[in-house]
Formats: sequence, structure tokens, C-alpha cells
Amino acid sequence: MSDRHNDLFRGIMALPSFPVVFVTVERNIMVAAAFHFYSFDPPSVMVGIKPDKHSYSLISKTGEFAINIPTKSQLDKIRICGSLSGRDEDKYARASLTPSKGQIIDSYVIKECPVNLECKVVHQIEYPGTHVWFVGEIRAVCIDDNYRRDDALMFWLGQFRSVGAMIEGSSDQELLR
Ligand SMILES: Cc1cc2nc3c(=O)[nH]c(=O)nc-3n(C[C@H](O)[C@H](O)[C@H](O)COP(=O)(O)O)c2cc1C
Repeated sequence: MSDRHNDLFRGIMALPSFPVVFVTVERNIMVAAAFHFYSFDPPSVMVGIKPDKHSYSLISKTGEFAINIPTKSQLDKIRICGSLSGRDEDKYARASLTPSKGQIIDSYVIKECPVNLECKVVHQIEYPGTHVWFVGEIRAVCIDDNYRRDDALMFWLGQFRSVGAMIEGSSDQELLR
């Protein structure tokens, strides 16, 4: 890589961490940290997936996916689902996770995750870079009453982190009720 590329890449490395999520489609699970909020209305999120992933083919084919938010205690399952390919493995079995039928999508969601967001793909953003971004409109939601956003997990540059301390703002109890 050129010095200029290395210098520009340092800019990417300087970014803070991103939420880690399980992306499910059909009966497969992958892990993504290239994940972001996209729109409040309609409520939409986006996820960046490399085209060589099995999940990329499945999302392109079905036009749907689910975002399943893991907790810190599921790090072992993140390692499994984020390294094996669904072309060769049943990751529900390998990670001891339970597939649960979606409410509005044909794909499964993960029963053990406290938040499941069922999405239909509304945009696919091709770019001559590493990831293709799928924008998903959230059409059904399942949230465990005991879910706390502090339980989520962040990731960037090989580092797993917990969510940071709140500096200012309202409590989750006020925001999510
Ligand atoms: C913490 C973590 C974050 C990851 N983030 C992404 C991501 O944002 N996009 C991506 O394409 N792959 C990402 N991966 C890699 C995929 O999860 C991994 O290659 C997986 O085995 C793909 O599964 P599949 O081939 O069954 O779709 C990540 C892996 C880990 C462990």
C-alpha cells in the first residue's frame, strides 16, 4: 500500500466503535459491525456486507434480513457466527442458538437475542469498495422487556468494547417507554 493510502486509512482507524449485530437471513447468521441507523421515518437501518459472504447472496436473493442485537455475554457466539460460513455450517447448531420464525419475513430471527428487527431491503448501494450496503426498512420489531442498551457490544479494529458511560441526556427508561 502507498504512503498516501496508509495515511487515508489512518482516518478510518480513528473512528470510534460501531455496534456489533447478528444479521440473519433464511437459516443463516453472520456478524456485522458495519451497521448504522438510516432513517427515523420510515424507521430504517443499513448494514454493509462484503460480496463474498454467503449472507450477501441470501439477502440479494430474498430481499430481506433481520438485525438481532446480541449482549456482551454472547461473545463466544459472535466469534463462531463471525468466522464460519453458512455455506459449510449450520451456525444455529454450532453456536447453540435457536431459530425463531419471523413475524413478517420468511427468514429466521435469533430467539436468544433481546432485540430482533425484521427488515425488507429498500436500497442496495453498490460502490467500488469493500462492502455493499443494504438499507432495510424495519417492518416488525420484538424487544425483550429486560433489554438494556448498555448490554450491547461495540467493535472496531479487532477491539470489542462495551457501550460507554452516558455524559448527558435522558435515561433509557424515559426514552424507550
Ligand atoms: C466482530 C465482527 C464484525 C464483522 N463485521 C462484518 C461486516 O460488517 N461486514 C461483513 O461483510 N463481514 C463482517 N464480519 C465477518 C463475517 O461475519 C464473517 O465473514 C461470516 O463468517 C460471514 O458468514 P456467511 O458467509 O455465512 O455470510 C465480521 C466479523 C466479526 C467477528
